[in-house]
Amino acid sequence: MNTNQTKVFIKTYGCQMNKLDSELSVGALVKEGYTFTEDEGAADVILLNTCSVRNKAEHKVYSQLGSLRDQKEKNPGLILGVLGCMAQNDGEKIFRRMPHVNLVCGTRMFSKLPELLGKINGTNKRILAIDEDGEVTFDRLITQRPNRYKAFVSVMRGCDNYCSYCIVPYVRGREFSRPVEDVINEVKDLADDGCKEVTLLGQNVNSYGKGLNGDTTLATLLRKLDPIEGIERIRFVTSHPGDMTRDILEAVGELPKVCENLHMPAQSGSDRVLERMRRQYTSEYYRGLVEMARSLVPDITIASDFIVGFPGEAEDDFEDTVSLMKDVRYQNCFIFKYSPRTGTAATELKDDVPEETKKRRNQILLDLQSEINKERNREVVGKSVEVLVEGTSKTDECRLTGRTRQNQIVVFSLPETCPPERLSRAGGSASLLGKLTNIDIVDSTDLTLFGVINEF
Ligand code: 5AD
Ligand code: SF4
Repeated sequence: MNTNQTKVFIKTYGCQMNKLDSELSVGALVKEGYTFTEDEGAADVILLNTCSVRNKAEHKVYSQLGSLRDQKEKNPGLILGVLGCMAQNDGEKIFRRMPHVNLVCGTRMFSKLPELLGKINGTNKRILAIDEDGEVTFDRLITQRPNRYKAFVSVMRGCDNYCSYCIVPYVRGREFSRPVEDVINEVKDLADDGCKEVTLLGQNVNSYGKGLNGDTTLATLLRKLDPIEGIERIRFVTSHPGDMTRDILEAVGELPKVCENLHMPAQSGSDRVLERMRRQYTSEYYRGLVEMARSLVPDITIASDFIVGFPGEAEDDFEDTVSLMKDVRYQNCFIFKYSPRTGTAATELKDDVPEETKKRRNQILLDLQSEINKERNREVVGKSVEVLVEGTSKTDECRLTGRTRQNQIVVFSLPETCPPERLSRAGGSASLLGKLTNIDIVDSTDLTLFGVINEF
């Protein structure tokens, strides 16, 4: 196949693991001679990397596929592929509902993409590739990544927790941890290519090491990654409270590069709901973890996910969630309305919370978290924070963006009106990209800190 002229467009839905899979897929295709385009209309191959976690995510993909029908009619050579979680979950059904789709490629078949596209090209064949024994992980083309200074690194995949609402174990399979050496080598390669921050990814990152030889854990992995030269910051997501350990929190507290931020979803503050969710902890246990985290790492920030309207969630269960949110004062929360997923254990329970109630509870939590965000961000005004500079504003070279170690978003400007001679002498504001820089915070909203650089 002459791939040199073949332009690939990829659209990603869902979580960070999906973003990483898209990035790795594009890398694998570029290696084979494809070119990557951001213009869907000009593409020869359109790939949708999909999510099944909620009904809404699936719905979006089907409607996007529907609207691609015209483009396929105008250009019959166009290859249309559905990848990832929905491909794994819906399989053949996608072909039945969408006759113009050529490829359905599951979560363990990403590494076969170049081969599969090669088979389809010029033939208009339809291929279903959802083998569950396929490869769990695959190599990356280090240079192909959306941000030069930050990268995700997959350390484990899949999940063995089987929370009753969750589709992940069914679409991503059982837990699988990558060997320590592979992770170290990938992080070293990223550092050599100018990357400053790595985020270790896993659906259940805290159970990293299970199934590997010896006493490898997330804590020992963090200790091995911390000394790698060139890397300035290390993060990890997502932490299941049931697998959080004192060792991990001690590593966060002790290691200079590991950032003081956890994403540790509580899902609910009610023990009755947590039990039906099969979360394996109580609200009290969770609160104990938060306390331990804060005593070992005083400036740590914590983010969470919550589901409202889980089957049987009564008003007092919901009030327990409100109390948990108020007491913990999260740095950030993602709030979802319960969406039944076929095949999961929770579908045996009646989805009995009316949509109106789900909406109301969702809004109450959003409003509460927004207030907490405002208050927390206001507390930072007047302080100086360390930011890893990630980008410049497209419209104003003097405005830049970055994040603190605690994962707060910072938008900042150069001093005063930023004299052009000084800017050019310094190599332009772009010279700050990828640098750790101290910023004086002067203002804030619920989602953003605003500041001024004090050392340009
Ligand atoms: N309905 C609603 N939210 C869900 N999540 C996972 N499964 C469901 C579901 N069936 C949420 C959880 C999880 C986040 C990624 O998505 O809060 O942490
Ligand atoms: Fe969605 Fe879960 Fe798949 Fe991520 S792993 S894309 S959240 S279903």
